[in-house]
Amino acid sequence: MTKHFLEEDQELAHLELSPGTPGGSRTVNLPVLQGTLGPSVLDIRKLYGETTCFTYDPGYTSTASCESKITFIDGEKGVLLHRGYPIEELADNSTFLEVAYLLMEGELPTKEKFDQFSDNITFHTMVHEQLRNFYSGFRRDAHPMAIMVGVVGALSAFYHDSLDIHDPEQRMIASHRLIAKMPTIAAMAYKYSVGQPFMYPGNDLKYAENLLHMMFATPAGPYKINPIVARALDKILILHADHEQNASTSTVRLAGSSGANPFACIAAGIACLWGPAHGGANEAVLHMLKKIGHKDRIPEFIKRAKDKDDPFRLMGFGHRVYKHYDPRASVLRITCQELLEELGYKHEPLLELAKELEKIALEDPYFVEKKLYPNVDFYSGIILQAIGVPTSMFTVLFAVARTVGWIAQWMEMIEDPLQKIGRPRQLYTGDTLRHYIPFTQRGA
Ligand code: ACO
Repeated sequence: MTKHFLEEDQELAHLELSPGTPGGSRTVNLPVLQGTLGPSVLDIRKLYGETTCFTYDPGYTSTASCESKITFIDGEKGVLLHRGYPIEELADNSTFLEVAYLLMEGELPTKEKFDQFSDNITFHTMVHEQLRNFYSGFRRDAHPMAIMVGVVGALSAFYHDSLDIHDPEQRMIASHRLIAKMPTIAAMAYKYSVGQPFMYPGNDLKYAENLLHMMFATPAGPYKINPIVARALDKILILHADHEQNASTSTVRLAGSSGANPFACIAAGIACLWGPAHGGANEAVLHMLKKIGHKDRIPEFIKRAKDKDDPFRLMGFGHRVYKHYDPRASVLRITCQELLEELGYKHEPLLELAKELEKIALEDPYFVEKKLYPNVDFYSGIILQAIGVPTSMFTVLFAVARTVGWIAQWMEMIEDPLQKIGRPRQLYTGDTLRHYIPFTQRGA
């Protein structure tokens, strides 16, 4: 194969195959699809049929896996839009539950529709009493993400009336259940790890308030929710709600493409999110900042991050899509500063260290040339720590927020008439055909 090129103003791209390709030298015309925003997309669906060649794209760096109307990212410019609305505007003016409605329904709700949606979510916040028994099967030192994967997957054993993915009503009930129960399940995972009694949800509370209540209240006394903390948490939830076809969302879509039930699909997404290259990064950022300890040691860690023989990377830096400052990190940088000031930590050492690290890295030619900027995880860990969330719960809260995006994307996929089971192919480089030989005839 020699080259392919996209001719402007034409609806077909010509792919020129070299004499070495099966079937010999020839030109194949590929339709060029144009979205409302973003780069053109070569439609290669018929490529294999016409050329008997697959494409090779590990990590999907050049592959659009689906069509979507939910979220748009321009990584070069640092733009993130949900249903067309900039993330900065949503973070400043909206609430997590309203963003959830927007992602799922496509429009901002009227007051009546929002109240109805809010009531639906509130109605489902409790979990089946028997589900509590699941927790006692885990060791107390289990990572809460391990508990999340297990318990969310187990929901499919409890809610048989919302498993039929072909029934829109059941899909909607499953979606509401997941959004409503995730904070309850997450808070229970935390309570279990610290040996405190589970707290029932408070349905008079807003989404983030309820999460704080279930995590930090105890039956022994009153717990007063700090509105500043609740607003900061709500903002973190908004900023993590969706991010187009990232690894965990693609996992949810792939799991869902086989017709698996929504609870199983979301459990698969949680498992993927747990990885340190994805949702586990904010936990890793905090560990890294603590390890650096003092700004005098920053150059040492910067040097290690640039060393190809050292596996160390600056956590919270770099992104597959953003080659610019992650817009979510910009919002969180300000939120972090404001929250810490409001809570009375004027010079929080970790924040000072993070800002210094960011400054030094952004002036370093290695990070400049590779376009490595702070991502959403760089400041979120400091905020979560300031509001008393233990590091092992950071990714869990990310999962609570991202559940909304996973569901919106899963619903869009199910409703897509072109939806097929996801089944990539491969470039096989293993042994060619060989025949079985018994033990006695095998060499050492
Ligand atoms: N520190 C040092 N070098 C880095 C970093 C980093 N954080 N990130 C990327 N690089 C370098 C790589 O070594 C590579 O260098 P090379 O071209 O000389 O080989 C180059 O930049 C490109 O990096 P890739 O790993 O190929 O980029 P990719 O798009 O596959 O990875 C990722 C993106 C996984 C986020 C990466 O930047 C990383 O590991 N960052 C740290 C972990 C992190 O913060 N993850 C959170 C991501 S945001 C989220 O999931 C919510």
